[in-house]
Amino acid sequence: MMKVNFSGINLENPFFNASGPHCTTKEELDILGRSKAAAIMTKSCTFEQRDGNPEPRYIDMPHNSSINSMGLPNLGYKEYMKLIPELKIHNKPIFSSVSGMKLEENIQMISELSDVKELDAIELNLSCPNVIGKPQVGYDFEQSVEVIDEVSKICKKSLGLKLPPYFDFVHFELMANIINKTNVNFVTCINSLGNGLVLDVAKEEVVIKPKGGFGGIGGKLIKPFGLANVRKFRELLKPEIQIIGVGGIFSGIDAFEYILAGADMVQVGTILKQEGPSAFQRLINELDIVMQAKGYSDLNSFRNKLKIME
Ligand code: DHB
Repeated sequence: MMKVNFSGINLENPFFNASGPHCTTKEELDILGRSKAAAIMTKSCTFEQRDGNPEPRYIDMPHNSSINSMGLPNLGYKEYMKLIPELKIHNKPIFSSVSGMKLEENIQMISELSDVKELDAIELNLSCPNVIGKPQVGYDFEQSVEVIDEVSKICKKSLGLKLPPYFDFVHFELMANIINKTNVNFVTCINSLGNGLVLDVAKEEVVIKPKGGFGGIGGKLIKPFGLANVRKFRELLKPEIQIIGVGGIFSGIDAFEYILAGADMVQVGTILKQEGPSAFQRLINELDIVMQAKGYSDLNSFRNKLKIME
């Protein structure tokens, strides 16, 4: 039994796709719909359609990790508003990721998406590291207060925030205090670790073209930071705010760790890009094996039960 109640919605299992790979076009979203993913997340949308940054802009790294500087290629929010009702044939909850360049754009997109009845939840992206000249909102605490306040006033769906990784206890506390004063329903942590640099030694060159080779790092390398963010936010946020864990989940054991650290659900990005949507069935099978071996019959039996040393 892997059922999850998330924002009042019943889901079959805790796995779905991160806003990132394999969720931009209708074709990709339909494939996710036919997979074992419990829900469908659409790629972060912007006010206008975007082609994104020049290629190469995504490269796999050794040890199931990745670097990307996609630059938010997407169809534009109007197109996703049309697509979402069509995706409902898959009978799964639909999440829409929103990543406006300005507050006014986020407000307009979220108020219009709020009227799409087939949409279940909105994940506001405060942490895209790859748009040239745009700092991550989630690292600017004053701007974050304003954005979250304004957006939560007009959002009529379950509202979540996609957060950047934090590394300092003071920053966790600042952000948790901001979120606790709002009616945000969930947080998703973590986005990729922004502005890493990966080199090709033979060519003595960077491996991606945008931003001089700097890009967001995803996959196994970032799992300890994802776990830390889930754990800290679970400790600091009001209990009714749910948490989606993401960052380096490649196996059922990784998912078990995230749920043990406090995650309600988990998302996958790099593994979805590398293995394709069949990864969901494998992850479900592997989590089932871990749970059986440990004698857990449901996710609540071990969620947020991580022990610390006295
Ligand atoms: C992109 C990357 C991100 O980490 C994100 O949150 C949004 C967009 C991108 O480059 O497309």
